[in-house]
Amino acid sequence: MTITGTSESGKSETMTEAAGLSTGTAPGAEPQVASDRKGREWWRTAVIYQVYPRSFADANGDGVGDLTGITNRLPALKELGIDAVWLSPFQTSPQRDGGYDVSDYCDVDPLFGTLADFDAMLERIHGLGLRLIVDLVPNHSSSDHVWFQAALAAPAGSPERAAYIFRDGKGENGELPPNNWESVFGGPAWTRITEPNGTPGQWYLHLFDSTQPDFDWENPWVRAQFRDILRFWLDRGVDGFRVDVAHGMIKEAGLPDYTPAAPGASMGSGTATLEPAISDEPPSAPYWGQEGVHEIYRDWHLVLEEYEGDRVLCAEAWVEPLPKLARWVRPDEMQQAFNFSYLETPWSPPALRNVINESLDAFGSLGAPSTWVLSNHDVVRHASRLALTAANLQGHGIGPKSPGQPEPVLGLRRARAATSVMLALPGSSYLYQGEELGLPEVIDLPDSARQDPTWFRTNGERYGRDGCRVPIPWEADKPSYGFGPTDASWLPQPAQWARLARDVQEGVAGSTLELYRLALALRREHSLGFGTVEWIPGFGDEVVAFRNGPITVIANLGPAPIELPAGEIVLSSETLNGRTLPSDTTAWLV
Ligand code: GLC
Repeated sequence: MTITGTSESGKSETMTEAAGLSTGTAPGAEPQVASDRKGREWWRTAVIYQVYPRSFADANGDGVGDLTGITNRLPALKELGIDAVWLSPFQTSPQRDGGYDVSDYCDVDPLFGTLADFDAMLERIHGLGLRLIVDLVPNHSSSDHVWFQAALAAPAGSPERAAYIFRDGKGENGELPPNNWESVFGGPAWTRITEPNGTPGQWYLHLFDSTQPDFDWENPWVRAQFRDILRFWLDRGVDGFRVDVAHGMIKEAGLPDYTPAAPGASMGSGTATLEPAISDEPPSAPYWGQEGVHEIYRDWHLVLEEYEGDRVLCAEAWVEPLPKLARWVRPDEMQQAFNFSYLETPWSPPALRNVINESLDAFGSLGAPSTWVLSNHDVVRHASRLALTAANLQGHGIGPKSPGQPEPVLGLRRARAATSVMLALPGSSYLYQGEELGLPEVIDLPDSARQDPTWFRTNGERYGRDGCRVPIPWEADKPSYGFGPTDASWLPQPAQWARLARDVQEGVAGSTLELYRLALALRREHSLGFGTVEWIPGFGDEVVAFRNGPITVIANLGPAPIELPAGEIVLSSETLNGRTLPSDTTAWLV
């Protein structure tokens, strides 16, 4: 092959050169971490706060958050007591999937600012003693990306087409898709193109929206481009990457037909229900969790090792069971993987105890920290999710016509109790912007405001994820509740944002914001991130009780109140009356 591509960091590279793919050290080999930091790397215990840039803070008043808005609000995050920020995509994008459709991996979308704004933000983050990990979306690009546009303009079989997954269709005239795969967002996973000569042509694969064509990661040229993209952001000083769809980049050879066990698919895993299973899909789905993805991460591990400091890769891999997920964090691969089994655990003491044990075992057996997460930009906010009353497609969002509508008071109460369990666990926790305010899912968004491709691709059958993405409230009395200087907000904010705004919670004992601050301060003071879980028996089936270092955590998930044991109560998720721990409440004692 002789095609010359200009990589996004400006280096030109031929496909032949790029074919010198490094496969890294042998699987399971010891990572190379400076010995003084080994086992103490910052990411092992970090509380990492997810900023979804569209909805965090808007400096220029156009109704969409931006990087300068983030920079201006960083002191609030420092005060909250977090260690690091994960920034969802801010790279150039036509925004067909909230930025998870990237058209230039090495620039900032003008909607969010410029590279100079990024540098200023990063400098401020580091100046405050925080870290930054950025989102990387390697499974697919935007269809606007020059590489995909070049592929469309080039003939079938060309090197340009080989960057993506183009195939001839089935049927007499190629009029049928190459296989039966469905998009995670609904509808077919293939779209037919019109060839440059105007005739109906090949099909391309998109596991997500049709504007998100999948790369062919078997192609060494693609791998070389992404090594450069990693280096571009590492050179700018980022502390790591959250890797989007980290279970989907390799597809089974031959792209065989596949029918999931249950209709639909949540973020890559099958139907999400309130039952513990994150996935009803057998592990053999030909596009999820293929063994070949691990070679890519062994390669990236080495790229990160070229840099000073403890850089981190965190996998967004919707795979189960946990021992399978743990393969993503073998010592020579990634450092972390999101624990979605934990996120999807129902509000049930045995389920919670099990998932904590299984997580600590699965990750711990590889020397990796467990992660914990309750909310993110893809799922129903846990202040609503934990009070859903019927089996519900939580991965698909909820709206006015969804069954099992959550009762808001119960939802918030459980969310506060659940967070108070999570932040006492050893390992690293992820928070999603606004959960520290107790924000619920916005269920009654008008249909006309919805923007998630899921909503459109299912003709409104699935509400999608807009309800957890509404711009967050900072000051009750300001326009857009302080989100920006004007009333503009890309999704309408509900009136209840006024009483949940950050300023009305600040310094107010018992507010959700103060609960998070206290938990984070105690977590830091007692090094809970480095601790262990020692279960305390004797409280009955409805209670989750454990010790981590000097802290005793008691969570009452049952209907009846219980008496707390001896010890000073240093945190409680509700105001307590004496030493009685009511239903859906967690307390920490020393
Ligand atoms: C990940 C992202 C999600 C996005 C999808 C496609 O699951 O978290 O928001 O829609 O990938 O990139």
